[in-house]
Order: sequence, then structure tokens, then C-alpha cells
Amino acid sequence: ENLVVIFGGRSSEHEVSCISVQTVAKAVDTEKYNMTLVGITKEGKWLRADNIESIADGSWRDGKVTAVISPDTTKELLILNGDKVERQRVDVIFPVLHGMYGEDGTIQGLFEMADIPYVGCGVLASAASMDKFYTKIIVDNVGVRQAKFVPVLAEDFGDLDAAMDRVETGLDYPVFVKPSKAGSSKGVNKAVDRQSLKSALEEAVKFDNKILVEETIVGRELECGVLGYKDNTQASGVGEILAAAEFYDFDAKYNNAESKTVIGADIPAEIEAEIREDAVKIFRALDGFGLSRVDFFLEKGTNKVVFNEINTLPGFTGISMYPMLWNAKGYDIGKLVTTLIEMAKE
Ligand code: DAL
Ligand code: MG
Repeated sequence: ENLVVIFGGRSSEHEVSCISVQTVAKAVDTEKYNMTLVGITKEGKWLRADNIESIADGSWRDGKVTAVISPDTTKELLILNGDKVERQRVDVIFPVLHGMYGEDGTIQGLFEMADIPYVGCGVLASAASMDKFYTKIIVDNVGVRQAKFVPVLAEDFGDLDAAMDRVETGLDYPVFVKPSKAGSSKGVNKAVDRQSLKSALEEAVKFDNKILVEETIVGRELECGVLGYKDNTQASGVGEILAAAEFYDFDAKYNNAESKTVIGADIPAEIEAEIREDAVKIFRALDGFGLSRVDFFLEKGTNKVVFNEINTLPGFTGISMYPMLWNAKGYDIGKLVTTLIEMAKE
């Protein structure tokens, strides 16, 4: 069987994907699958990567061989090497991409067009999960608690004072300012007063023209993995993030060894059960397929479970929670990757 693993991508999480893909590619059963690695540069060029080492050292970016999924239903990878065109049959695709153009339904639309099975969520689930505004609407419908928010749109920047008045009427400081569509906390900032709210909004609008300003939920950060589809959806155990920085920002996540993850969070059994149940409920409400990591807070003081966000293509880096949570459930990384690939074809 011919498996194409796609990594990199045009999003701000390009580098994270380049780390995640090494974990995934190493775990692929190469007796079962004939794997081709395809990297998408930040500029959006598709290049065949010769091997995992070329991803580790970044030299895949100097590659000269283009490889693209044909959008027609021939189910082919078109490999363009100088004037030569080689066509390779594709049986299944594993997009190890995070963020925009990878986790947001756009590339999933290409796979649908091409009629090729792929790992993970479909177009709608991916798009709705990437856009925090739409995620909120869907999660509200299943009755899971989430942070209160005020939306600010790019068009509101014409009268930013009025928008900030709306925020200040609806919420108390400190607030979190988040681009509606973004990953790995890029463009996310905390605001403690009107002045920092203004600069946080100006930063967030660089990433998206829809911004959410959210009440701050103070509490423990708990995450739950989901694997499966429809009524075969299972939840992993619950893990906890102990962030080094004030909140789990991009730097704390990937560049700071002090961030720690705990597999098997020390929480009461009924809280764990609620989180696992909510994770599946949210995944199913979003029409999820394959995998997701659903992130929650356990609010300090109230001890209430509050939904934070869902990642339909969660990280597979060395410090990533998703593979560790499943490892604890008896899915080592090899079994997890095979399960996901086989599920894609169902
Ligand atoms: N968006 C990153 C990859 C994660 O949630 O794991
Ligand atoms: Mg994300």
C-alpha cells in the first residue's frame, strides 16, 4: 500500500509539524506501507523529501523534486523531476500538518476531491475546530461550559474605542485576546488593562480578521485524547500541562524544557469521567473523525470543567500529550499510527 505523509505547511506551526512528522514517520510500519514523504514549504511549494534525516536537518527544503496530489480522481501523486513526470498510486494520506492550510479543512478538501482516504477529520470538522468562534457555537449546543467571550472583527478597528468599550462592558480584566483561527498560541496575548488590550488586539488582527476576547479562566490545564469515529469514539485518560511560562505560549510549549506534562492527571475520578465524556461529546458534535485532542481547564475555586479548545491534528512531538496519552492506554506509537491509517480507509 502506498502511503503519503505530508508535513510542513504554510502555517505558523510549520516547524512544529516538521518535528511531529519525524515521530509519525519513524512509527510507520514500512513492511505494510510504502511511505513517501512530501513536505510543503512555508511558501507553499510541495517537495518530495528523500528520508526522515532530511527532515531532521532541514535539507528537504533544498529538494528539487516536486510531488503533488493530483486533484482529479486518478488517486495519484505526481512526481515532477525536471522534465520527467512519474505517477505513483496513492492509497492513503496522513497529513501531519498543524494550523492553517493543514488542520483547517483546506487540504482535506483536496483529498476529498481526489477521492483518497486520509487520516483525521473531514472538511467541516477541521474548519469548525480551527475557528474558535464556530467551535464555541457548536460546543454551546452540547452544553459544555466554556469561557465567556466578546468577538472583535477587523472592521471594528475603524472605531477601536467602541470595540474596547464592548469588551470592558462584557468582561473583567485580565482577558485573553486570541485570533479566532490560529494554532500553538500564536498571536494570543493577555491584556490587563485598556492599553494592553489595544496592543493585544493589534497583534491578534495580524493573524485573523476575527478575534475573540475571552474571560480568563484560572485553573489547571487538562487534556484528553480522542480516537475513533461515530459511536466507536474512545477517550484516552486525562493529562495535565504544567506550564513554565505564565500561560502555555508558543515558547513555553516548544522551546522551554521546564514545561512538563503529566500523564494521568491527579484529579478526582468524577472529574476525569466528566472530561472524557465531554471530549467525546464535543468531538462528535463537531463531526470529528480519527483523532483529536480536546483541552480543558479545571477552574480554580469552582472546580468546574471548562472547555478550552480542540486540536484535530494534535502535536506528535517528543513532548506532545496525544501520543503519550494513548501510549498509557496500550497504544504505543506504532500501533497508534497504524490504527489511524487503517481507520482512514473505513
Ligand atoms: N497545535 C499543536 C500542534 C497542538 O495542539 O499540539
Ligand atoms: Mg492547534
